[in-house]
Amino acid sequence: MLFWRVKPLDKILETAGKKALTRQLGAFQLTMLGIGAVIGTGIFVLTAEAGQKAGPAMMLAFVIAAVVCALAALAYAELASMVPVAGSAYTYTYGVLGEGLAWVVGWALVLEYAVAAGAVSVGWSGYMNGLLMHTNLFGLVEEGSLALPRALRSGPYDGGTFNILACGIALLVTWLLVIGTSKSAKVNAVLVSIKVAALIAFIAISLPAVQSANFEPFFPTGWGSPMGGIGVLGAAASIFFAYVGFDAVSTASEETKNPNRNIPIGLLGSLLICTIFYLLVGYGAVGAAGSAPMVGADGSFLQPGTPEMAAACLSHTEALVCSKEPLAHVMRMIGFGGVGNMIGLAAALALPSVILMMIYGQTRIFFTMSRDGLLPEFLSKVHPKYHTPHVITVITGVFVAMFAAMFPVGVLADISNSGTLFAFIMVSIGVMILRKQQPNRHRPFRTPLVWIVCPLAIAGCLLLFVNLSLYTISLFFGWAIIGIIVYRFYGYRHSDLGRGIRDAEDGNVPPPEPPFHEGPQA
Ligand code: ALA
Repeated sequence: MLFWRVKPLDKILETAGKKALTRQLGAFQLTMLGIGAVIGTGIFVLTAEAGQKAGPAMMLAFVIAAVVCALAALAYAELASMVPVAGSAYTYTYGVLGEGLAWVVGWALVLEYAVAAGAVSVGWSGYMNGLLMHTNLFGLVEEGSLALPRALRSGPYDGGTFNILACGIALLVTWLLVIGTSKSAKVNAVLVSIKVAALIAFIAISLPAVQSANFEPFFPTGWGSPMGGIGVLGAAASIFFAYVGFDAVSTASEETKNPNRNIPIGLLGSLLICTIFYLLVGYGAVGAAGSAPMVGADGSFLQPGTPEMAAACLSHTEALVCSKEPLAHVMRMIGFGGVGNMIGLAAALALPSVILMMIYGQTRIFFTMSRDGLLPEFLSKVHPKYHTPHVITVITGVFVAMFAAMFPVGVLADISNSGTLFAFIMVSIGVMILRKQQPNRHRPFRTPLVWIVCPLAIAGCLLLFVNLSLYTISLFFGWAIIGIIVYRFYGYRHSDLGRGIRDAEDGNVPPPEPPFHEGPQA
């Protein structure tokens, strides 16, 4: 079963009919690309969740998640450079481990991309709601008069009923994708600067307000236990979300000068810079505002994103761990309300581009799966006027909007992490198998110390995976089982490879690469 229906790598490359791209990116541009793709909801919003899970020790969680990510990134980059085609981990698995596992990976990537888009939408709504609540529009209205009613500010598990802004932004981004919006390099550069400027302002203002008493006790929740979703490892499993997105660097390997030198610099450089930023932001937030976790009536630590946590937060609105816009909240707490609003505005401007990238990534994976016959063909229909895959974009966008309207940000981020961690494990296994199976195949980038890095990446991803909450892990396996059933009754029967279409029909013209494949690159 394992190596069954493997789609030869040469066939994958030929089917994609990929044009050769000019090698123009250097180490600096790659590092910027990585930083632009990585900084988002994780640091702007999940800092509060990490504080609830680990207290001040969340800073250790940032480091652990960064190390796991760096290891996985090095493995990921080898396959990405060998098979530089649409579909990422799904495509690599198809070429190494076969169709069955590729399907499961593609199915898990729905969690990585679509659910992550939902998480970022909810994160965006937290900052937008904060802005609406705290602005007086330069004196035109009374402060607070623009705030939405509580029921429309968050979903039913988080103290509200329907998160209308999160739903709205997901639908707006979907519409932009349908009409063919893609992010230009210039817009990307501006958004990266806005995000980085907001973080620098936060660090500069919060560090002088740090009080050492706020770091006591440092380890209020301990290391955590498997499936507990709490403690330092539980926080690392959640905050892992803050580092996701670096694959923008690995998938750019084809456009990189001297990839063997520049890809690791770009990957590790962007992860290192983000880690330093995250540690300083975490230190400033905890030190200036405190991060004592909320406890329930029985004395146990509450899980973020549960109705119990939402209820406890009703009487602790000042607590950092309760905030939906923690960085702006800390600024307001220490008397810099104006800067808090500016940080909120920066998040409100920059986060939609992360949502756009995620929904775009999801449609690209569905498109590839549909092209392989594993999903119905109508899904890859292209709009006659906009030349975008509108059917799959609208379906994906509506689902993202629904998740965003109903679920809390931390729950969505954890679910997304479960899919990402699984995909990274499969990719790391794939790299090792391919080194044995096809040692002489050209590898534009080779994972350094592969027999140490890949096993450590697998171990690290497994460690984070088991430290997600039981709820998240159950959802992951439930989703995987649904996927296997869909595969058995649809994908297995309709797969082009299974039906021998590509192999049998000599001279068959390969379908075109998605017309949108030159779209947003972070
Ligand atoms: N790393 C990205 C974020 O934090 C997904 O929003």
